[in-house]
Amino acid sequence: MSSVSCTWRRQRHSNGILAMGFQLCILVSCYTIARAKMSSVPAVFAFGDSIVDSGNNNHLPLTFIKANFPPNGKDFEGRKATGRFCNGRLPTDFLAEKLGVKKYLPAYLDNSIEEEDLVTGVSFASAGSGYDNMTASLVLTRSLEHQLEWFKEYRGKMNKIVGVERTDFIISNSVYFIVTGSCDLANTYFTFPFRRMFQDADSYTDTMLHGANTFVKLLYEMGARKIAVSNVPPLGYLPIQRTLRGGLTRQCPRYSNEAVQLFNNKLESSLRNLSAQLHDSSLLYLDTYNFFLDLVVNSTKYGFEVVDRGCCGSGLVEAGPLCNVFTLTCKRKYLFWDSFHPSEAAYELIASRTIETYFPHFS
Ligand SMILES: *[C@@H]1O[C@H](CO)[C@@H](O)[C@H](O)[C@H]1NC(C)=O
Ligand SMILES: *[C@@H]1O[C@H](CO)[C@@H](O)[C@H](O)[C@H]1NC(C)=O
Ligand SMILES: *[C@@H]1O[C@H](CO)[C@@H](O)[C@H](O)[C@H]1NC(C)=O
Repeated sequence: MSSVSCTWRRQRHSNGILAMGFQLCILVSCYTIARAKMSSVPAVFAFGDSIVDSGNNNHLPLTFIKANFPPNGKDFEGRKATGRFCNGRLPTDFLAEKLGVKKYLPAYLDNSIEEEDLVTGVSFASAGSGYDNMTASLVLTRSLEHQLEWFKEYRGKMNKIVGVERTDFIISNSVYFIVTGSCDLANTYFTFPFRRMFQDADSYTDTMLHGANTFVKLLYEMGARKIAVSNVPPLGYLPIQRTLRGGLTRQCPRYSNEAVQLFNNKLESSLRNLSAQLHDSSLLYLDTYNFFLDLVVNSTKYGFEVVDRGCCGSGLVEAGPLCNVFTLTCKRKYLFWDSFHPSEAAYELIASRTIETYFPHFS
């Protein structure tokens, strides 16, 4: 865009000293803008769960945590069910676009991706995983530890494509989004009894925190510097939580949100501490919890007509294998796509808010 307008202006002011000075200014400012754009964010990467998994789980044979069939993707380009747990794009698709990188953040395991897709970033996320590595094991998906192994393998491929020096540059100047923790609390802690038999919420959120800290440090050791970690959204408002734990009237169960807040407070404090420890790092704590709460509480302001059930099927329980080709979908504007995942409209609002709030200060 900027180079087009440069050329246009240069042609219009092509004589006289004043015009020359003007040209020079325009050239300099265009150069600066172009440089800023080029050097700002070379690539975007994602680690975590289904909120940012753009199709890695399609390639894991044993798990049932998949979304590569309709009606998932019904509003995606070409109505394609890519493996995203959504009617359309994910938050990291919007974030990558808003950071000027690309419109879709593809899955690392997608075998149709080209070399240039690798160079501008991929998602290593695996739906169903968490900070607690038991969370992924329970549903046969890939833990954060495993996602880091993929990142190491990625680095090797990049060294061959663009060389070691450029790879190091890309790795240290790109933005990393970590979005996980929901499945630890919603599944491992509240749904399966294993953990709750031995740990209360305070102790379990410490386990999660340990996983989060370990992961951020390992990612830093591998060269990442700009790391944005989302907190956990208010899980009590998920339609599935209302159905399972909200009683006959499907009220939002208060205790799920309390456990989430307990974890979020620890995460915020811990990232602040890590930020001081990890030299030259830029760690961001993204307060998705409050952005999401705003969408629930002020839903009409954002045009949402239904907030207490998902768009897929009855909206009370469907997600993953239950939201399938035989399930009817909604016609109105829903906050949730299925009983577990927000809709594309909600994701886009959260991504915009994230960029406006945090990215002017991310250096
Ligand atoms: C799970 O995580 C813990 C602590 O982060 C680690 O010590 C352990 O080796 C991991 N277990 C597996 C099976 O990966
Ligand atoms: C962060 O550091 C402060 C001061 O050393 C400490 O009191 C606090 O517990 C730390 N937070 C976490 C989550 O480790
Ligand atoms: C709802 O909107 C009002 C008015 O804009 C705002 O003051 C309030 O903080 C919002 N609620 C939440 C939970 O964000």
